[in-house]
Amino acid sequence: RTVFVNGEYLPESEGKISIFDRGFLFADGVYEVSAVINGKLVDYAAHMERLGRSLKELRMAWPCTRDELDVMHAELIKRNALTEGIIYMQVTRGAADRTFNFPKGEVTPTLIAFTQAMSLVSNPNAVTGIKVITTPDLRWARRDIKTVMLLAPALGKQEAYEKGAQEAWMVEDGFVTEGTSSNAYIVKDGKVITRHLSNEILAGCTRRALMRLAKEEGVEIIERKFTVEEALAADEAFLTSASQFVMPIVEIDGKRIGGGQPGPVVRKLRELFLKEAT
Ligand code: PDD
Repeated sequence: RTVFVNGEYLPESEGKISIFDRGFLFADGVYEVSAVINGKLVDYAAHMERLGRSLKELRMAWPCTRDELDVMHAELIKRNALTEGIIYMQVTRGAADRTFNFPKGEVTPTLIAFTQAMSLVSNPNAVTGIKVITTPDLRWARRDIKTVMLLAPALGKQEAYEKGAQEAWMVEDGFVTEGTSSNAYIVKDGKVITRHLSNEILAGCTRRALMRLAKEEGVEIIERKFTVEEALAADEAFLTSASQFVMPIVEIDGKRIGGGQPGPVVRKLRELFLKEAT
């Protein structure tokens, strides 16, 4: 693979950053994951908009211009002949002597990016549906910022895999916040329910696209928090993310949802999303 490191395109084995990088020492950095289908980026403008917001919230500078980021994404697709998969990009505050407070003086932000070829459209999980478990939400209070501080999500996802599931829904005060790397939805009596945006969850770009598509199609989406009990009694459940798009869930904590088959609402919404993205 050819990767991008601070302005250079390099073979992945040559991509190196400092041991003093604040992303490494403090998780002082933000990231974005954008999907690529047929060599084209999906929802890219929304991802760049959210990146700008994340940077601003952490009082970090843009590492380069938006045009340069566009070129970086396009070059990585071209140099890796990527037709389907994702582009991961990360910006950190940069490398400096280790102090908790921001380093004094000019520090050059670190910008890295790489591709991962993946089969996203014909993902077999979308046919069968996936299993999720629930686990306490151990994250900090600013989950609206897409930081690289991902230890709690990594532990949650690992717990899910060890229990034979593919995702963990994180729970706070009895309510589902979101998945470790996705937004969470249930369907009851034909209506979709998903948590409202706040500091407690990440504003998903796929969520935003889905809200628009659902509205166009006349599918009602109610934005409110829902409990684990409600989820267990739902007709359907699903998740959204840049890499999974709209993914049916057929089991929560070992209990079958909707008879253990992807339901009509989620199948319809995935189809709508793919129709627009492909
Ligand atoms: N994760 N919530 C969390 C906590 C996430 O990490 C993500 C994305 C989402 C969905 O956002 P979007 O639709 O913009 O991808 C929600 C990415 C895919 C990841 O970390 O790999």
